[in-house]
Amino acid sequence: APFPPPDLTKCGMAYNSTEICCILPTSLSGKPIKKFEIQHAHLPLRFRRAAHLLDDAFIEKYQKAMELMRALPDNDGRSWNAQWRLHCAYCNNHLYYPDHEFPLEIHQSWLFLPWHRLFLFFHERILAKLIGDDNFALPFWNWDNQNNTEPFPNALPWAYYNNVSLSPTALNKTSSLWDPDRNPCSKPPRLVEFQTFIPCLPRPFPDLTRIQNAHMMWTQMVSAGATPLLMAGGEYRFGDFGGRGMGAVEGRPHSPMHAWTNVRDMGTFRAAASDPAFYGLHGNLDRLWELWKTLPGKYRGEVADPDYQNSEFTYYDEDGEQISATIKDFLDLKKIRVQYEEVSNAWVDKGT
Ligand code: C2O
Repeated sequence: APFPPPDLTKCGMAYNSTEICCILPTSLSGKPIKKFEIQHAHLPLRFRRAAHLLDDAFIEKYQKAMELMRALPDNDGRSWNAQWRLHCAYCNNHLYYPDHEFPLEIHQSWLFLPWHRLFLFFHERILAKLIGDDNFALPFWNWDNQNNTEPFPNALPWAYYNNVSLSPTALNKTSSLWDPDRNPCSKPPRLVEFQTFIPCLPRPFPDLTRIQNAHMMWTQMVSAGATPLLMAGGEYRFGDFGGRGMGAVEGRPHSPMHAWTNVRDMGTFRAAASDPAFYGLHGNLDRLWELWKTLPGKYRGEVADPDYQNSEFTYYDEDGEQISATIKDFLDLKKIRVQYEEVSNAWVDKGT
């Protein structure tokens, strides 16, 4: 069977306690979970831009939205605390269903790609409403792009540190997009590398890093992710114990990149979504999921299984209330009105 939408007010119930991940906004009490009906929704276009190409005007807008989100009290579902703890709840054995033994786990299975797509979608709607800009869209960190000219797309984009016009030597530690726990070595222009979970190993040859990164993109997206299930991850149905096997790109480069960026926050399931760079990392993954469908090889479409397509998750909507949404409504980016800026996908053609 597909997963029904979990009730977030039951977070942590297995331990009969309110765990660190469980923020229970007071606004939720007694209200039923709303249902996001895609067919009736009039959605504004969200044009998601490559983070390394942003200008100051956009960065300031995103900073402002994040400032407002961070200023909300914890007992508001739209708050930064409630947002990152929602990710935490979905992956640290916090969400149980009545009469079911096992908690819901959204990593290491076919739920991984859709859960994160929907999380970005609702997170973005909250930010947009906070600044009253209906077209606000999250930027994406174009990490698969190994272009060899500055600003390097595969370095952590400067936007997560500071405005572009400010000196790269002067970190703006008051930026709402800054996270003090990042690894010092993930600071741009250092190139991200996909090979290891040990961050900050000396990498004296950036050209080699680029070649290795491009090869891994090809290996994971084309060869290892050759079918919908290999790309998506293991079959995982309501009632199953989680951890059914990672999809190709979830395993690498996605997982090592978490540790490479910020081993203290992003390197843990608990606090991964508490670094704004998380949303850029996952924006690109979401874009690559779409690109994957166009790559050479056998059938590259959606996982057709109804238990996958009909699984539902619960998030917070732009009013801070619980809203559930179904995977199948989010498989077509055109339908949800999300569009990614065109960038070079050179590794697709050259394999390098
Ligand atoms: Cu929920 Cu990048 O992981």
